[in-house]
Amino acid sequence: MKKNKLLLLGALSLAAVNFGPANAADKLTLYCSPQIEWCNLMVEAFSKETGIDVAMTRKSSGETFAQIKAEARNPKGDIWWGGTGDPHLQAAEEGLTEEYTSPLFDDLHPWAQSQAQSAGNKTVGIYAGALGIGYNTELLAEKGLPAPECWADLAKPEYKGEVQIANPNSSGTSYTTLATLVQIMGEEEAFELMKAMHKNVNQYTKSGSAPIKAAARGETTIGITFMHDMVTQIVSGFPVEIVAPCEGTGYEIGSMSIIKNARNMESAKAFYDFALRADIQTRAREAKAYQVPSNASAQPPDEAPDLEKLTLIDYDFAKYGSSAERKRLLKRWDDEVGALPR
Ligand code: G6P
Repeated sequence: MKKNKLLLLGALSLAAVNFGPANAADKLTLYCSPQIEWCNLMVEAFSKETGIDVAMTRKSSGETFAQIKAEARNPKGDIWWGGTGDPHLQAAEEGLTEEYTSPLFDDLHPWAQSQAQSAGNKTVGIYAGALGIGYNTELLAEKGLPAPECWADLAKPEYKGEVQIANPNSSGTSYTTLATLVQIMGEEEAFELMKAMHKNVNQYTKSGSAPIKAAARGETTIGITFMHDMVTQIVSGFPVEIVAPCEGTGYEIGSMSIIKNARNMESAKAFYDFALRADIQTRAREAKAYQVPSNASAQPPDEAPDLEKLTLIDYDFAKYGSSAERKRLLKRWDDEVGALPR
């Protein structure tokens, strides 16, 4: 009898250790940079499967990088999921993220693996997508404007006030555009183009996909974003047309990183493995997210722009994701473009 009671007590205290409310593994703080609909879907699916309570905030890639850096001595976030790869690489270089190799690593496309390898496994590719120029077909016709075909067209005076793009400091999309133009034209010519284009820009938004949402709703004629963000508007019934710029275009390797000294490290690793699974990546379309998934067995959405058919530049992720280069280019943009009157 006495022995049974002891056993029972032992079992109860074990239960308290494993499932008690103080168990840190039950929580996760997620910093999310893709579109909010996809962030919400991931939170719901992960919580449902694991019972882990997720606190999520959506912020753009550059903003999230700045936040993680500001919190480095006392990290509040556990994992940063999504957003363009360059600031993830910069975070890795600056020692803000944790080295981790998932058991699912071998299932990933080579581009997703090389993103990890170039950062000492402190980040990994979760999706890819190419930049484009999008426009509202009805507004363009109403205004009697020609459709833009090339990046260089965006500086033409006839598009005065008609173009929207995000601010490259907050937005990874816009930084990818800046780095793309520099790689296509050379730095001087790219800055000349951005300065001339400044007169045509009606607003520099905080979030990267905002310009095409605005174009879809008739608030701007042209928006510069990733092509898959344009697809989201088209499938939602808006009159948007996608242009693959004549000079070729750049692309992102959307990435994921575990935050250094994360308070909920086990939960962060569980989410990391979860987010690399083929079945989970295949679900992105439910949130109208049309990026190309990084797990080679995940099914790319039929609507996803076919990257094989585009003229993609050989984007130098190591260079443009390096801390010194990203800082330098953003400062130059602030000084020479952002500061210009309109
Ligand atoms: C959109 C795109 C993502 C991209 C993200 C970057 O959500 O669909 O593919 O990674 O923008 O956001 P940002 O606001 O930093 O440009």
